[in-house]
Amino acid sequence: MVISQSPPSRIALQRLHIIQATTGTTPRSQMATLVPGAAPSRAPWRDLLTSHLNKTPSYDFTIATVAHDAQNRPVPRVRTCGCRGFFPELELHPNGQEDMWQQVDEGENPAVVESDMLAFTTDVRMEKLSQLESSGRAIEAVFWFKDLMAQWRVKGRAFAIGDPRGEQAERVARSEIQKGLRVKHGDDHGDDGSGLGKWSWDKAVTKYFANHSPVMRVPSDSALGLGQKVKDLHDPVARANFRVVVIQPEEVERLDLTDYENPRRWKWTLVSQPVGDGQGDQWAETELWP
Ligand SMILES: Cc1cc2nc3c(=O)[nH]c(=O)nc-3n(C[C@H](O)[C@H](O)[C@H](O)COP(=O)(O)O)c2cc1C
Repeated sequence: MVISQSPPSRIALQRLHIIQATTGTTPRSQMATLVPGAAPSRAPWRDLLTSHLNKTPSYDFTIATVAHDAQNRPVPRVRTCGCRGFFPELELHPNGQEDMWQQVDEGENPAVVESDMLAFTTDVRMEKLSQLESSGRAIEAVFWFKDLMAQWRVKGRAFAIGDPRGEQAERVARSEIQKGLRVKHGDDHGDDGSGLGKWSWDKAVTKYFANHSPVMRVPSDSALGLGQKVKDLHDPVARANFRVVVIQPEEVERLDLTDYENPRRWKWTLVSQPVGDGQGDQWAETELWP
């Protein structure tokens, strides 16, 4: 077994902190902006997983959570979900982009932050969110990229954002997720803070909502009728139930079956570093056998 510590990134990375605006009439949930602090480096597995995702036309993953039966015994639950890539970066289809331009200030957030956290969307009435709450937010996501003969498992904790009422759980979720956000360097928006001030959680969630076609932006109230189209990206009924779930990865495993005679498996584990050492948490890589 070989254990190697991933080297600290040469790029100065910054963790982000939320500033809550306290003036004006805009709801607090829409006024939260980001300013730089100190940050996690890009995970060593991220580029390879990204390249596998990019080579896969439409990628679903299997999401496992922990439920409890009537005797309070833990029981596994798994289901298929559509992976929406790494939060908050999402390539919108043209119709969704048009809706964003028409209904959201400046079209969308400036592309100033990235993360190693995978995202998917869901509805609050489904069971996985309450299972996350009752199980310490434990989650595992699995991809099987058959054409690439690669399996990826991402284990960690997941947080859901998008509650328009901005209650305590929403604030906790945002605060956890922002720990994994880092400023993107070298793009048009730069890291001089100009883009960060315009970034908002509301726009981030709205973009995921816009990614659904109007007929899939489900109005929750059955009295409104099934199959209703929701063109309004801030439709209060549809948005009350819509959530973006973001996975904070803690352990990632890659299984490479390209050579059936010689399968290879690697595991990366996030190792906590003391607060204030300026390095951020580090990924330790282990090659597993068998
Ligand atoms: C191809 C496919 C994609 C799906 N995508 C999602 C998704 O992105 N989000 C989601 O909540 N459910 C999705 N579902 C439905 C889930 O598999 C599951 O039935 C639903 O989320 C309810 O699960 P739960 O009550 O255990 O939370 C998808 C199902 C399939 C077959």
